Amino acid sequence: MKKFLTVEDIGDLNAALKEAAEVKKTPYAWDELGKNKTIILIFFNSSLRTRLSTQKAAMNMGMNVIVLDVNKDGWKLETEFGVVMDGDKPEHLREAVPVIGRYCDIIGVRSFASFEDKKADYEEEILNQFIEFAGVPVISMESATRHPLQAFADLYTIEEYKTKPRPKVVLTWAPHPRALPQAVPNSFVEWMKEADVELVVTHPEGYELAPEFTKGVTIEYDQKKAFEGADFIYAKNWASYSQYGQILSQDRSWTVDEAKMALTNDAKFMHCLPVRRNMIVTDGVIDSKNSIVIDEAANRVVSAQVVIKRMLEALKK
Ligand code: CP
Repeated sequence: MKKFLTVEDIGDLNAALKEAAEVKKTPYAWDELGKNKTIILIFFNSSLRTRLSTQKAAMNMGMNVIVLDVNKDGWKLETEFGVVMDGDKPEHLREAVPVIGRYCDIIGVRSFASFEDKKADYEEEILNQFIEFAGVPVISMESATRHPLQAFADLYTIEEYKTKPRPKVVLTWAPHPRALPQAVPNSFVEWMKEADVELVVTHPEGYELAPEFTKGVTIEYDQKKAFEGADFIYAKNWASYSQYGQILSQDRSWTVDEAKMALTNDAKFMHCLPVRRNMIVTDGVIDSKNSIVIDEAANRVVSAQVVIKRMLEALKK
């Protein structure tokens, strides 16, 4: 495995889920694989779960871990080509990325959508520079369009909690005071489409995700109707794709509450976190016995460890 960005990069999902279960059961069984190997985790954006869970996963594999918060610890990086670098960015990614690659065996990178240029975001201009110039395998720790470590952990969590072979999984938009990227819902849809689940996406009109992700997916604009009979409710806010990066609605009637959860098949509640209580979801729902957000976050170690393990195994060959 040379890169981890899309669901295709993980290959057979059943094999990946089986491997995830093994990693969860015996997390230290492969700690020789990472001996004298180094992972560098580069953050252009804030993180709690991704930073800590990926570090923990790498440490479980016996690796050395270096974390770089670009905005605090490094030179400001220019990401565009062909510009006269007479501004406040003294270093270009074109040099920084291969240099970082010389110091490690795997790179993880987090770089969110800018919301300034839809084409640049959806062409993954920053992540692709890492993939092209690093010279070592690259893990997306959330890029402009996707959050695959989250989606893999989400799928594994659903696998752990499902009580029927093909559960109904509903991704619901919910209100938020700030414009958030589409990376989490894009990846969630991308992974669920490949999994053995009945996927329904519900959101107000204007919040359609990019067609490349939702082609063939059931979209239901009536949130209550979507919730009927659901086994899992996955809440998330995202900004508009068509009116790129815009907040079109903060309609609190879309907040996930107890009344809507009562329409479901005793559904489990999921969210990638961090979550705005009483905007996205009421206290009553997130604090209920059906909320599995903490187990979901804990499984971020599992998804990261499977990916790191596969990359280390590939390096050995
Ligand atoms: N879910 C997630 O990626 O959390 P962080 O932004 O805290 O890493």
